[in-house]
Amino acid sequence: EILTHLPGHPWRSHLRVFEEVESTNTLLKAMGREGAPEGTVLIADRQTGGRGRLGRTFLSPGGTGIYFSALIRPNVPPNQIMHLTCAVAVAMCDAVEETCGLRPGIRWTNGLVFGKRKLGGILTALCVGAAGTVDWAIVGIGINCAATAFPKELEGIATSLASVTEVPVDRYALCAELVRQLEYMNRDLQQKQRDYMAFYRQNCVVIGKNVHLIRGDEIRSATVLDVDDQGALTVRLQDGQITTINSGEVSLRGENNYV
Ligand code: BTN
Repeated sequence: EILTHLPGHPWRSHLRVFEEVESTNTLLKAMGREGAPEGTVLIADRQTGGRGRLGRTFLSPGGTGIYFSALIRPNVPPNQIMHLTCAVAVAMCDAVEETCGLRPGIRWTNGLVFGKRKLGGILTALCVGAAGTVDWAIVGIGINCAATAFPKELEGIATSLASVTEVPVDRYALCAELVRQLEYMNRDLQQKQRDYMAFYRQNCVVIGKNVHLIRGDEIRSATVLDVDDQGALTVRLQDGQITTINSGEVSLRGENNYV
């Protein structure tokens, strides 16, 4: 039970647990349109249509993962929201470390990794209101917990908490810790943006690496120099030019692997 881990928590009464949904993000978006309160959290045991960035599928079988979405109302303009996904990545690392004793790495922009393999990811969705401000944001979190084998297309790419820790993972405890870390983050985001970004940088595994930047069919090689306080990536292209990349439509791949 998740609620037993969250006595007196301010988001406690807004938490819903489902056996199966299409996607916790899609469902929460619909609830956001209906005025769901800040701190509404949906957790599912499995998703039939889990989504990742750029319309990719996020495989979400039952009993093995965490599929989690939270609705917040950050008071920032939409063009200053990239650091939200970064702060969520830090909150996820904190939650995993707190419950499993191991701190994952962050792969810019929205991936959590152990070694060279993907442990989970974040999918952020925004609703921009008439005034041009963010009405609500949904942060969707997926974490591979118990799976020890993956379908062929994910072999060598995906990993899970069970594959890297000796002790079985308590998914309820981890979900509760995610709620706690996200609530802290949401309370402090504006004052602590720089602190979250500093932690992000410390955990970010791509800084200093040679990568491929992928935009549609275009692939460019680059060296990652840094992540700035807005969450954008500073890279040096092969011709020596230094440029800043916003997450937008760009994906990143390691030269030989996922990282
Ligand atoms: C990615 O790796 O690109 C992001 C993956 C995000 C997956 C989570 S699982 C809960 C929520 N519902 C979804 O359909 N996606 C997110």
